[in-house]
This record gives sequence, structure tokens and C-alpha cells, in this order.
Amino acid sequence: MNALRRWITGFALAALVVTAAGCGTKAIDAGQAGGGSKKTIVVGTDAAYAPFEYIDASNTIVGFDIDLMKAIAKAAGFDVQFVNTVWEGIFITLQNGERDALISAITITDERKKTMDFSDPYFEATQLIAVPENADVTKFEDLKAKNLRVGVQTGTTGDVAVSKLLGKTSPNIKRYDTTPHALQALAIGEVDAVVADNAVVLHYIQSNPNAKFKVVSDPSFPKEHYGIAVKKGNKELLDKINQGLKAIKANGQYDEIYQKYFGTKK
Ligand code: ARG
Repeated sequence: MNALRRWITGFALAALVVTAAGCGTKAIDAGQAGGGSKKTIVVGTDAAYAPFEYIDASNTIVGFDIDLMKAIAKAAGFDVQFVNTVWEGIFITLQNGERDALISAITITDERKKTMDFSDPYFEATQLIAVPENADVTKFEDLKAKNLRVGVQTGTTGDVAVSKLLGKTSPNIKRYDTTPHALQALAIGEVDAVVADNAVVLHYIQSNPNAKFKVVSDPSFPKEHYGIAVKKGNKELLDKINQGLKAIKANGQYDEIYQKYFGTKK
């Protein structure tokens, strides 16, 4: 009974947060006003994930994923509208029809493939450990051996990796709603390490040199690939997305966007 009530309350809360996030953020269009006949695809993204998706000074959702999705839409002939969506609950919005697609640096995993469909991979990633500059950590195993408190973003592949190492219910796993919150917790000593996607950790360190973190990589972390998610069975949209992705890879636009955010050629 108690557990049921807690579950219901939790669910209602999650719904509330999603709604609030959806309303509070300026939704942007693909800059294709005037093309009234095109279908508008509503795209969810957890915009606390620079450089892939974040809110800029003018309260607009920007980033690598955003430019990529806009380019794909243009190439495939549809419009996009981005809606900031909290990560916890982001996948539910596909199932209940609140979003048509998700682009959010989402790793394609077998587990997720059970409940949603993914585009062709568009970005390669892996997990990276962030620790204070002076920490005595050289490999993933050390987090367990040294009994360290590890911060992750709830439900990410970083969470999955750390849960496997320490046990899902380990009190040493501290789960945060966003990756920046986990990294801020590291900066104030609330945790001893953070495990998250490589490009996001590196971007945070670059933009926050005062945090004095170093990164530790570990060959045991598998290669990950980001994909754009759609509702299971939405082949029509998935085909369009894949067609657009192929087109912008072929015409150099993908490389341009890559260069804009990562400074190097792919
Ligand atoms: N790639 C990781 C995963 O799929 C983390 C993605 C988190 N994305 C975000 N926008 N917060 O689990």
C-alpha cells in the first residue's frame, strides 16, 4: 500500500516536472517559417548537456544535436520544434505521444531498443571518469577498491556502468537529475568522482577550469553510439531521419557542424 502510494506520487511528480519543463522553455523552430505545408516534428531534448544541447544566454536551445537535427529536418523535408524535457521521463514522452522524436546524446542500447527505435548512429562516445586533480585514481576499479562516492546522472549509461561496478543499490552511488549537477557536486566535494559521457565531461572541464578536475579513461568502458529515438514502429519518421542524416553526411554539413562544436574534423 505504502509502496503503491509512493509510486503514484512519484509518477505524478514526474509528470509535473515534464510539463513544467515543457512550458518554461522557449521552444524554437527550425527557421523555416513560411513553409506552412511541412509537417512539424516535436523533438524532446534534455538541454543541460553542453555541447550537445543546452540553453544559451538568450534562452534558446542550442548545441551540436540541435544543429544536426535541424539540418536533418531540412534535408528530409520536415520542420522541427524543440522542447526541453527532463531526462528522467524523457523516454515516456515518446510512448505517450508528447514528443515525436528525441535527440539528447542518447546512447543506443539493447535495453532501450526494446521500447523505442533508433536512427543510424550519429556520434561515437564512451564513459570518462572525472576526479579532483590530486585524486589517486587511475582506473575504474579504483572507485570500488577505494570505496569512493560516485556521482552519475540518473538512468544514463554512466549510471548503468557504475551500478554494475558497485551494485545498483550501493550507498556510494549518488544520482543527480543532470550531469552538470553531478559535476558541481564533485566540485564541492559531495562526491569523489563522476562517471559520464566523455565529450560532456571534457566540455565542462574546459568551461570550468577553476574546478580543477582531471579525467581518467578506462579501456573497460564500451564504445557507445548516439542515436535519435522515435516511438517504436514509427518507421515513416525513422526513414526520413535516416535519409536526412545520410544526406548531410554526404554533402559535408555533418562535418561542418562537427567542426563548429569540436573544433576538429571528424
Ligand atoms: N549517453 C548517455 C545515455 O544515453 C547520457 C545521455 C544524457 N543526455 C542528456 N541530454 N542529458 O545514457
